[in-house]
Order: sequence, then structure tokens, then C-alpha cells
Amino acid sequence: MAKPLRDVLGFGGAAGGKTFESFRPETQRVAYEKAKSFLDDPRTLIFEGPNGIGKTHLALAIGNALIERDGLNLAPVCFITFQDALRQLRKTYQDGYEGIGEECYLAKWRGIPVLILDEVGLRGLEQAPSEFTRRIGYDIVDGRYRAGHRPMIITTNKKPAQLGDWITESAVDRLFEMGEFVSMEGRSWRRTPR
Ligand SMILES: Nc1ncnc2c1ncn2[C@@H]1O[C@H](COP(=O)(O)OP(=O)(O)OP(=O)(O)O)[C@@H](O)[C@H]1O
Ligand SMILES: [Mg+2]
Repeated sequence: MAKPLRDVLGFGGAAGGKTFESFRPETQRVAYEKAKSFLDDPRTLIFEGPNGIGKTHLALAIGNALIERDGLNLAPVCFITFQDALRQLRKTYQDGYEGIGEECYLAKWRGIPVLILDEVGLRGLEQAPSEFTRRIGYDIVDGRYRAGHRPMIITTNKKPAQLGDWITESAVDRLFEMGEFVSMEGRSWRRTPR
């Protein structure tokens, strides 16, 4: 059976519950307001800060609000982690692979009205950023930049100065022109007794 569209776009399961309503804004007032302002003024936002402080939650809240407002079928937004993006592209180089190629993925990530790229700069699959990581990071950002500053929501643990190691300095520079970095601080929500 085909996957529901909500899952394909990255908003299935628990992601569907990460909304502005389920976010407690007290400790992240600035980031919360910036995220809300995206709905009226869709400019790129990069949420930067340590683990567990609500970066991904706010990114998903924006996406869920857009789906709620514009309808699922118009597919206004897609959510993907940078790791998954790299993994999908790597698959396209494997012998016997018969799915869509790298250029199709890049075209999809260029064309979607709002692209949420989660966990850029996270060491997982990549022990350190490789040339491949940097090339794809650059291609994704530059593709949207050249398409007329199509907005992105990015979450990262890296300060702007280090983010260039993962997606190139050129991409970080373009992000500054397309929008703004929102620096977040605080204790991990995951470790906060409630
Ligand atoms: N202010 C908040 N109100 C309600 N839930 C929150 C808040 N901040 C974080 N959470 C919850 O805490 C968990 C961690 O938040 P989130 O996934 O957004 O962290 P993150 O900043 O993306 O961290 P990481 O860098 O580790 O990915 C999630 O389940 C999220 O829903
Ligand atoms: Mg996160």
C-alpha cells in the first residue's frame, strides 16, 4: 500500500503532534515568536543551539501549521534530516538501484515551497563532514537560493562559523542573505523534570 502523503512529507506519527499548541513558549520566547512569524513572512530561519531545547519541535510546528492552513494535497512543505537526505542520495549510486536519481531528489528539494532540513552538522553517518556532505549541503541551499530565495527551516547544533564545515561557507553566506540565524540556549527539555 502506498505511504500516506503526510508520512512522505515527514509529518506522520509523532511529528504530527509537534505543533505550536503543544510547545511551551516560556523558555524559548524569541525562537517561538520567530517561528510563528514565518507563517506571515516566510523567510529562512536557522534554529541553532544545544540538544533538546525545541529546535526540531518548532520546525515541525511551522510545517504542521502550513499543512493545516494550505492543505496536505498542495504539499507546501517537506521535512527531512540532513542524514536521511545524504542516505537517500548515496542509495542512488548503488549497483542495481532503479529509483529516481540524485538530480531528481535535488529538484524535489529545490522545488518544494518550504524545505525543513533537520540536524545539519550532526555526527552520525558522517564522522566528519566529507566532500560529498559539503557538496550536497551547498547544492540544496544554492538551489533554493537561485530559485528566488525559496525559504528553508534548518536546525543545527553548529554555530554559523562551524556550519560551513558541513555545507560550505558559500552556503552559510547565502543563508544569511535569505533569512536569519536564531540562537537558542537552555537546558534539554528531555532532561527537565515535568
Ligand atoms: N518548549 C517546549 N515545549 C514542549 N515540548 C518541548 C519543548 N522543548 C522541547 N520539547 C520536547 O522535547 C523533546 C526534544 O525537543 P526537540 O526534538 O525539538 O529538540 P532539539 O532542539 O531538536 O534537539 P536535538 O538537537 O537533540 O535534535 C521533543 O519531544 C519536544 O517535543
Ligand atoms: Mg532536533
